[in-house]
Amino acid sequence: MKKNVIITIDGPAGAGKTTVAKEVAKRLGLLYLDTGAMYRAMTLKALNEKIRVEDEKKLIDVSNETNLSVMKDEQKGMRIWLDGKEVTDEIRTEEVTNNIWWVCKVKDVREKMKNMQRQVGSNGGIVVEGRDIGTVVFPDAPYKFYLDASIDERAKRRWLEQTNKGIESSDIEKLKQDIEKRDKSDMEREIAPLKKAEDAINVDTTGLTIEQVIEKVISIVNQNAT
Ligand code: DC
Repeated sequence: MKKNVIITIDGPAGAGKTTVAKEVAKRLGLLYLDTGAMYRAMTLKALNEKIRVEDEKKLIDVSNETNLSVMKDEQKGMRIWLDGKEVTDEIRTEEVTNNIWWVCKVKDVREKMKNMQRQVGSNGGIVVEGRDIGTVVFPDAPYKFYLDASIDERAKRRWLEQTNKGIESSDIEKLKQDIEKRDKSDMEREIAPLKKAEDAINVDTTGLTIEQVIEKVISIVNQNAT
């Protein structure tokens, strides 16, 4: 594996991307970039500014005035900063998740995010996670993965995740409906929709443990090391 390698991991919500991408980066000594966190931070800014998220022009104006940065913390991993304030935990609220669709579909906002993501990855040596990374952001990356799992499995994982965090869980049926709604909006978006890059390796994680998925990704990277 070259030191300046780029590994992209795309896929729908609940497919295990975050856990896998973080751990693959750690074991291979690479940086990790969560691009969803960048869209979340932009959405948080729009909500804080109390702008109407339906107003594309306003969203573009706000994004042009926004200072986003990502930093690596040795202990905690990737941290995200918005206008000089760390917001890594604040971006995980339901309110952000419920409004993010509006931000993700704006062409100029995506363009800005794409340029920033390319800049962060410009020296390589990075695992980048998102929805359009293998298709749009790093289409020439040598290692591309598309993680997927059945809707039942993804809902079950979200339920377990929430329960383990001590969050009162919604019932699995409701979680399933939420995930289906997010899949639909990510896949049907006009610009940079979620889809498998033609040359990405599909990994169906249904029935696999996280450890099995991590090992699979690492073994493919090592097998094809150039
Ligand atoms: O990975 P996540 O759940 O934190 O992502 C939040 C939202 O951001 C998700 O609904 C899709 C969107 N997203 C995107 O449009 N493009 C990316 N590269 C990453 C995330």
